Amino acid sequence: MNEMFSIQGKVAVITGAAGALGGSLARHFASQGAEVVALVHRPEQVEPTVEALRALGGNPCGYACNVMDTDAVRSIADDIMKKWGRVDILINVAGGNVPGATIMPDQNFWDMKLEDWVKVMDLNLNGTVYPCHVFTEVFARQGYGCILNISSMAAYDALSRVAGYGAAKEGVSNFTRWLAQEMAIKYGEKIRVNALAPGFFIGKQNRAALLNPDGSLTDRSVKVLAKTPMRRFGDLTELNGAAQFLCSDAASFVTGVILPVDGGFSSFSGI
Ligand SMILES: NC(=O)c1ccc[n+]([C@@H]2O[C@H](COP(=O)([O-])OP(=O)(O)OC[C@H]3O[C@@H](n4cnc5c(N)ncnc54)[C@H](O)[C@@H]3O)[C@@H](O)[C@H]2O)c1
Repeated sequence: MNEMFSIQGKVAVITGAAGALGGSLARHFASQGAEVVALVHRPEQVEPTVEALRALGGNPCGYACNVMDTDAVRSIADDIMKKWGRVDILINVAGGNVPGATIMPDQNFWDMKLEDWVKVMDLNLNGTVYPCHVFTEVFARQGYGCILNISSMAAYDALSRVAGYGAAKEGVSNFTRWLAQEMAIKYGEKIRVNALAPGFFIGKQNRAALLNPDGSLTDRSVKVLAKTPMRRFGDLTELNGAAQFLCSDAASFVTGVILPVDGGFSSFSGI
């Protein structure tokens, strides 16, 4: 493999590593020789996640934590520093929609529970900001480090229904740009911060919105595919190459970028 794109030996912390996209990224990074530190939500997810990664190589390890619990994330960062002496990459994948912050066609804005709005903002925005807060301190001390956040198509145009999720992901995009400039200006060019904006990938949490129980397309997914020039959903492995690029030396002059991986969704007007 071209050296420029290598992530071999890099210590890569990945949140949401037991999920659909986070799991795919963790397996890919392990298969490319990265030392993956898998952060999962529930304790029972640690062992199977680490087992699957171990089979791919390297010396993976895992921790269970809530990404909004900064004390827990900080103590994990301390542990990683004791074990590895450095962290090269942080990928913030933990996130997702919260059903109560979604407004269905027969509902209106006032049906949305404000506590669910707070939950979806917390998980997606604070759940990205807090790990960045912890690990940029490590990166600033080291003088290098790379962050990859996960935004969404919901951050580009306001998608129907997902009011809270869209606002939170737009926050992730804006915060990514802000943190990129803050790090480069104050701590040097070797700390880079970017994000991926995935299009539509079928995972556990959006399956019911995109596919009927018999596997046929829902009305919503018919609209999604009509606005996707490639006319298909993404395969869960299709974030991996873009993530590797942004975390490798090949992207040494790339920071503050939100890279769509969306089959053309964000570039297409639909007409
Ligand atoms: N699937 C898509 O089409 C799509 C599109 C755009 C963006 N995204 C984003 O990609 C990311 C992954 O999505 P996915 O489809 O793989 O979903 P997923 O539900 O499979 O993965 C999300 C993971 O986050 C973990 N998580 C949830 N709350 C947590 C918390 N408080 N602390 C720690 N971990 C927590 C879950 O346990 C889960 O493993 C999310 O940020 C999502 O918003 C997904």
